[in-house]
Amino acid sequence: MSQAYTIVIFGGSGDLTRRKLSPALFHLHSSGALPDNCKFVSFARSDLTDDQYRGLLRDSAAQEADANGADWDRYVSEIRYLHGSSTDTSDLQELDQLIHDLHAASGAQSDDRLYYLALAPSLYEDTIDALHHAGMLDESRGTRRLVIEKPFGTDLASARKLNQFIHSRVDEHQVFRIDHYLGKDTVQNLLVFRFGNTIFEPLWNRNYIDHVQISVLEEVDIGDRASYYEHSGVLRDMFQSHLLQLLSLVGMEPPATAAADNLRDEKAKVLSSVRRHNPAEAAAESVRGQYVGYRETEGVSPGSPTATYGAIKLQVDNWRWQGVPFFLRSGKSLNTKSTEVAIQFREAPHRLFELSGESAHLVTDRLRIVIQPNESIKLTIANKRPGSRLDAEPQELEYKFAEDLRDAYERLLLDAINGDASLFTRSDEIELSWSIIDPFVDAWETQLSAQLYSYERGSWGPRAADQFIAPSGNWSNPVAP
Ligand code: BG6
Repeated sequence: MSQAYTIVIFGGSGDLTRRKLSPALFHLHSSGALPDNCKFVSFARSDLTDDQYRGLLRDSAAQEADANGADWDRYVSEIRYLHGSSTDTSDLQELDQLIHDLHAASGAQSDDRLYYLALAPSLYEDTIDALHHAGMLDESRGTRRLVIEKPFGTDLASARKLNQFIHSRVDEHQVFRIDHYLGKDTVQNLLVFRFGNTIFEPLWNRNYIDHVQISVLEEVDIGDRASYYEHSGVLRDMFQSHLLQLLSLVGMEPPATAAADNLRDEKAKVLSSVRRHNPAEAAAESVRGQYVGYRETEGVSPGSPTATYGAIKLQVDNWRWQGVPFFLRSGKSLNTKSTEVAIQFREAPHRLFELSGESAHLVTDRLRIVIQPNESIKLTIANKRPGSRLDAEPQELEYKFAEDLRDAYERLLLDAINGDASLFTRSDEIELSWSIIDPFVDAWETQLSAQLYSYERGSWGPRAADQFIAPSGNWSNPVAP
């Protein structure tokens, strides 16, 4: 055998590994999608034997492991566990030796590796530094790729500093910054929908589009993540990453090819065109909220000003989008889980027909790209109501995605293994996103934006958010499927 592949997870006993990475690796392993001679090594601080660690993974995926007994056993038999500190060079040298030993017998001539940093962000720099000093980032014996989880920095200055540090240790082609939204089929479909068809692209601009809404609504609250969330809040947690990535896919120009850098150049270009606000403007162009009961959560300070809901309005200053507002909103503890892009086309210039009937509440000329759940594309149009009168009613044309969509992490892990960075965020995209969000964070944290509205759990967020969008219409909230 001439090649060996190793996937090393730092933070191998953590929540992300157990809930997302291990199940994704199991699926890739059992479907034969991974490279030949692929081994897994998990590295973390807890002192566990290989078998104890395998037991931990099984407990987190019990249903799946039981249903696929033989495949699961084959998968876990490839996993080794080593405990140590990811910032300690001598512990990493031990890890390096383990990887050599694992492949020694196979006669592999090259030894490719993917290092997945499923760690607290405060450990990124020291871990990369220790990997560098242990000689484990050097690509002379095979590829050495680094996957870095979000959050990437906490503002523009810290993200820039982290990028500079990373670039002092590895080349950008080795770095894969994850935004798991880009691994979702329905998010990738934004590209296919826009650039694989001729129907919508001619309409995709200020001449036909009134405004755009991007909503990531969550039913869950912050759970036991208070220590993270208190410092992050909804802007850093959701807007800087997922929402702006969605905006870039909706707003970008057609790339020259689908190659990683062509795609990312166009995404960066539209992010550069987003109007930068000063904090006072950001305060006027946003609404923030906090769900009732947030302050009683363990780990949350009693007078916490952290926003768990946000709605902001952005303008994209370019030929395509001048004057078309992009409304972005996200929140926790809301009525339902729903991620959706709504494109509101302009009204017919002259109305001949009044809309009536049971579906009269639906807004026409609205295209809804439902990212999750009930993944679908819906277009609401005015349609003649059957009967002797010339009456119109809104009707929905709908395409439903297949039900067994794979988890985003599967796709992203495989792409990183294959060195395809199209669905990962480049350093400039990260910095551009922070430069858009920072003024909102400043406005909210310095209390420039007058009010932190509270909202009931299970609602659609603060009422003020409805007034905020009112000049352009109403929020596209999901109706029961
Ligand atoms: C994560 C955020 O990045 O995305 C979480 O940190 C959020 O707060 C999650 O719940 C949402 O992801 P998804 O795929 O469930 O929409």
